[in-house]
Amino acid sequence: MYSVLSYGRMAVDGVRIDAYSRAIERTVRPGSIVVDLGAGTGIMSLLALRAGARRVHAVEMDPAVWLARDLAVANGYGDKLVVHHGSSFDLTLDERADVIIADLRGSSPLFGQNVAAMEDAKRRLLAPGGILMPQRDRMFVALAETAFHRHDLERGWACFERNGFDAAAARSATLNWAYSDDEAPTQANHVLSEAKTWAEIRYGEPFSRAVSGTVDLPVTRGGTADALVLWFEATLHDDIVYSNAPGNALVYARIVLPLLDPVRVSVGETARVTVRTDVNGEQWAWDTEIGGRPRVRQATFLGQPASQQSLLRQSLAATPSRSGPGDRAARALELMDGTRTLNEISDALAASNPDVRRETIVDEVRSCARRYGR
Ligand SMILES: C[S@@+](CC[C@H](N)C(=O)[O-])C[C@H]1O[C@@H](n2cnc3c(N)ncnc32)[C@H](O)[C@@H]1O
Repeated sequence: MYSVLSYGRMAVDGVRIDAYSRAIERTVRPGSIVVDLGAGTGIMSLLALRAGARRVHAVEMDPAVWLARDLAVANGYGDKLVVHHGSSFDLTLDERADVIIADLRGSSPLFGQNVAAMEDAKRRLLAPGGILMPQRDRMFVALAETAFHRHDLERGWACFERNGFDAAAARSATLNWAYSDDEAPTQANHVLSEAKTWAEIRYGEPFSRAVSGTVDLPVTRGGTADALVLWFEATLHDDIVYSNAPGNALVYARIVLPLLDPVRVSVGETARVTVRTDVNGEQWAWDTEIGGRPRVRQATFLGQPASQQSLLRQSLAATPSRSGPGDRAARALELMDGTRTLNEISDALAASNPDVRRETIVDEVRSCARRYGR
């Protein structure tokens, strides 16, 4: 769940909002039916209403969407905005949209259910010939010298070492991770190579779960490469684009994939880089081969301390049994049949689990109701 303030911060991003505003003005006609997918507090809905939309369906998982209704009323559009609090995957409409507007990205467009939600929305909610916005995202990678960021990653382990301890395992785990650079934004002068497109998303089209690309990055400036930096260029509609390239201060930071060992690079050298991730952007892997040096393979999998047992539990071949909290959740769901209050369900669970604190049981029951109740 986002805070209301974070939606305000998203709206402060003038570059992004200006691009969406222009794309909405170009595509939404008087009388259009619009879906604002991932509406937040409704900035895109208001822009579409101002452009003349007959009706805007604002769909949003976060309760902040109820503020979109208040804002629509305050701005004279109360009768034209329909709020759908929930996931777009569960939304059915009795009319098709002429335009679907969404910005479900994070630092990377491969974020959460972004790609799947757009494909689903196009298939089920968009009228034939309707407009899906954005159209595509191109994802770029370059070598970078992000010294400040690196210092931040390593200083904890340097402290272990100053105390005479070997901290190599923790240092390596820290460097096998995908970071957002929001606290230390990568600037254009931190980039050491050409930037190349390693992957592209075409929204609304069938997609694969794995995304990867290999590119050669000629060095354009000598320096110490300590990371790959990743950004995107979003095409909202035809020539209307925006990008979180280094130096652009948007709400979306960039992704930084640190190199295990910083490498001195000079103009004339080339880095061969492979980036891989899943369509939800949860796990990342990156191989770098710089100027003829041995290839180094890194992955966020190596940055997640995990017991063998917990890894095996996630295997599709695993045959898990339920834990104590799992038993209680199963029983709570059985009892949630529309006839009992949460208090009564908690009483029933407390009676059969005398060793568990009632506060714990109430929290568990509330969480089941929030997640699976209606
Ligand atoms: C980056 S915010 C954008 C908010 C607002 N549209 C804006 O541009 O400022 C993305 C929002 O999409 C919502 N969201 C993501 N996937 C969704 C889905 N499948 N259905 C409904 N809401 C979704 C998130 O909860 C989040 O509030």
